[in-house]
Amino acid sequence: RAPEPATLVIFGVTGDLARRKLLPAVFGLWQDGLLGSAFNIVGVGRQEMTDEQFGDYALEALKTSKETDAPQPGSLEKFRELLYYEYGEFSEDEVYHKVQTELDRAESTHGGRKNALFYLSTPPSLFEPISNGLGRVGLQEEKDGWRRLVIEKPFGRDLASARELNDAIHRVWDESQVYRIDHYLGKETVQNLMAIRFGNAIFEPLWNRGYVDHVQITASEDLGLEGRAGYYEEAGVVRDMLQNHLMQLFSLTAMEAPSAFEADAIRDEKVKVLRAVKPIPAERVPEVAVRGQYGPGTMAGEKVPGYKQEPDVKRGSRTPTYVALKLEVDNWRWQGVPFFLRTGKRLPKKVTEIAVVFKRPPLGLFPGGLERNVLAFRIQPDEGVSLKFSSKSPGQEMVLREVVMDFRYDAFGAQLESPYSRLLLDAMLGDATLFPREDEVDHAWQIVSGILEAWEGEDAPAPKFPNYPAGTWGPDEADDLIGAGRRWRRL
Ligand code: BG6
Repeated sequence: RAPEPATLVIFGVTGDLARRKLLPAVFGLWQDGLLGSAFNIVGVGRQEMTDEQFGDYALEALKTSKETDAPQPGSLEKFRELLYYEYGEFSEDEVYHKVQTELDRAESTHGGRKNALFYLSTPPSLFEPISNGLGRVGLQEEKDGWRRLVIEKPFGRDLASARELNDAIHRVWDESQVYRIDHYLGKETVQNLMAIRFGNAIFEPLWNRGYVDHVQITASEDLGLEGRAGYYEEAGVVRDMLQNHLMQLFSLTAMEAPSAFEADAIRDEKVKVLRAVKPIPAERVPEVAVRGQYGPGTMAGEKVPGYKQEPDVKRGSRTPTYVALKLEVDNWRWQGVPFFLRTGKRLPKKVTEIAVVFKRPPLGLFPGGLERNVLAFRIQPDEGVSLKFSSKSPGQEMVLREVVMDFRYDAFGAQLESPYSRLLLDAMLGDATLFPREDEVDHAWQIVSGILEAWEGEDAPAPKFPNYPAGTWGPDEADDLIGAGRRWRRL
């Protein structure tokens, strides 16, 4: 299925995200012939540039991004012909009129349609002004084609601001036109979580409090700040990773089976399980959450600075770069089964994993035979799924050893597409399955609100930062959080 002819309008096209991820993703889709018979891109920015200069800029971006597919001969030059550029102040109407003119111009090659996907790849402070600007000129009206709005993260900086942003957007757009991006949902292996859970009969009967001891969700990163201090100092790990990416991984793992594989059926189930999470008011935070900030340390044999020594970070910064959280779910399926989530920067390696850790066998018949089975979804890298269980070790003695049954994605022999390609194409096709709905975002903020209050509120005690050296698995308190008899997976 190919999308109808359409124009992709990227606001903030000279920004980092557009350069590194979006342009390469669109180019890859176009080169693979997935964007249909007619397609073009209008880049919009505040910087003055001609179409010609924008073409140079975009080609340069494609040539330097690691994410760009190898171009076929001549394809970069052909792609360049699809590119247009408009500039102006986002607070004034003029720039939106120019966008309107671009859509009018495309009409003749687009079969008389003016379909448009508006992608807000700008700092969050511009989401509302741009949405309003588009609305003032009537660009959200679907008279002569569909109109959709894609919004990057972060969606708000707390519950109140996320609600305000949702309200502001809904004054212009219908929810069915809004696509909030969480790029984790575009990852092949995240989608596979649903495929494996609901496309097989053997897992689901065990996926509950009768058999599962606990679940661990880890998104560790070896990278530090990468020059993003301005953004990260404001965000911190709770807004950057926990409220969005980790909550999405959690809800997909814990939700009930949807009645159909269809956007609203799936999103209804995700919302239901988010609502079942036991609330975390600020007073409970010390019991269920641990924060950390990295100090100087060693990564892969090289000394690296601590967070506070990174360029543009305040010396007294209280920004957390690590969080571990225990979630409890008050429903029939999960009562008494804790979900442990952790994520941080400057941990020993980059790995994202969801591990379902099963209960021990009821009786220890064999020496060494009381290990817990683990079903692990490796989201990245080495994408795959593995099942750990005990087996007899060869020899006369009945001694058990843990073994692993391992499925790796490379068995398919295909390269995994980038999450942005998948999500852009879905938005062009009007499929919102992999985009968080308004109420999902709201509930995810509700869950982390108490944490933000406890750590950032006026009476919040000063954290003892730094509390983990770069290159280690985070603060020791995280081990206390997971509790006696359980331990974090060594990844
Ligand atoms: C982004 C965060 O949303 O996700 C970054 O802003 C983080 O801080 C990144 O590094 C991780 O994404 P991925 O796809 O590399 O796991």
